[in-house]
Amino acid sequence: MFPERFGTLPAYAFPRLRALLDAHAPGGEVVQMALGEPQHPFPDWAAEEIAAHAAEFGRYPPNDGTPELRRACADYLGRRYGVTIDPDTQAMALNGTREGLYNAAMALLPSQKAGQRAAVLMPNPFYQVYMVAARSIGAEAVFVPATRETDFLPDFAALPEELLARTAAVYICSPANPQGAVADAVYWDRLIGLAEAHDFRIFADECYAELYRETPPTGALEIAAASGADPERVVVFHSLSKRSSVPGLRSGFVAGGPESLRLVRQLRAYSGAPLPLPLQRASARLWADDEHVEENRRLYRRKYALADEVLGDLPGYMSPEAGFFLWLEVGDGELAALKLWREAGVRVLPGAYLAQDAGSGNPGAPYIRVALVAPEDEVLRGLEAIRRVLDDK
Ligand SMILES: Cc1ncc(COP(=O)(O)O)c(C=O)c1O
Repeated sequence: MFPERFGTLPAYAFPRLRALLDAHAPGGEVVQMALGEPQHPFPDWAAEEIAAHAAEFGRYPPNDGTPELRRACADYLGRRYGVTIDPDTQAMALNGTREGLYNAAMALLPSQKAGQRAAVLMPNPFYQVYMVAARSIGAEAVFVPATRETDFLPDFAALPEELLARTAAVYICSPANPQGAVADAVYWDRLIGLAEAHDFRIFADECYAELYRETPPTGALEIAAASGADPERVVVFHSLSKRSSVPGLRSGFVAGGPESLRLVRQLRAYSGAPLPLPLQRASARLWADDEHVEENRRLYRRKYALADEVLGDLPGYMSPEAGFFLWLEVGDGELAALKLWREAGVRVLPGAYLAQDAGSGNPGAPYIRVALVAPEDEVLRGLEAIRRVLDDK
């Protein structure tokens, strides 16, 4: 009587965190380091652009994004990665990348491959929508360790041939949430080769691509183009949430081969919720501007420098290459999160809530994820409290 497809999903990370912490009083002024919600200021002109076009809330927005927005997305990919895409056939605006990551599986992946149940591979730990997308199409979600032993990126090539043969797609996040690891050109090249050899798609979640510390990470489209891979092989997802610190704008885009994008757009035409027009106007301007992004990066660089200073000599400390998280090995992440909350009012996420036990233990369990999104003085207070509490084992 009741649909069971999602009934057995584990509770989402943040309700789990509330259940862990909220029965206890915080042991100090609260520092929010659990939610990855960017807090840096965004440009005033973004809000002005929305206000200037407010009358367009009276119109149904175009499903695929306005031509100006799609052009701005294509131009951004050109500037950032040196790739050329046709904005009319190879890009579509998203209501944030989360829905795009979900709907790409619905639009593009089969439930069966090579006469068997299809597999969708993903890193472990991972952004949770990948798993739900796989389940939605009746595929098996396969969790591939992305741990210290594999430089925090999944080693898909090490999987058995039998599994690769029935793999319909992999989700890969670079720069990675939560570890901040970056796939380099060699990694991408190998992965694209593997996808060509076993005929699966790559869904590249690149929503942290702009929050790098030193060197801009390479992207999947860039390497796919250079290697002459099938243009339908790789689909990339980009977001303004992190790039421009506008998580509430709900704006991103998907790009890839024309046939993939045709299918993605087709699904959206039937069931999607396109981005309201005034928000598309602001998004086009944000994608066209790089200056505010440089300032955003500068603020995160300062926070990473503080983290290195305060926590750098902790055993196993890893200074991430990109993103805005720390992935700290603390023994038992749930215990550490509880202790940080009760003793210092610092709210962090146990790593176990971002990973699955795929048979050999939960690879996130020894970790906490610490988001460096709050104002700098608050971040410093949080880091110092973490140091104090972790030193006092
Ligand atoms: C790895 C990853 N992918 C995708 C998203 C979704 O971002 P948005 O839907 O805001 O574009 C997030 C947001 O936290 C994320 O961390």
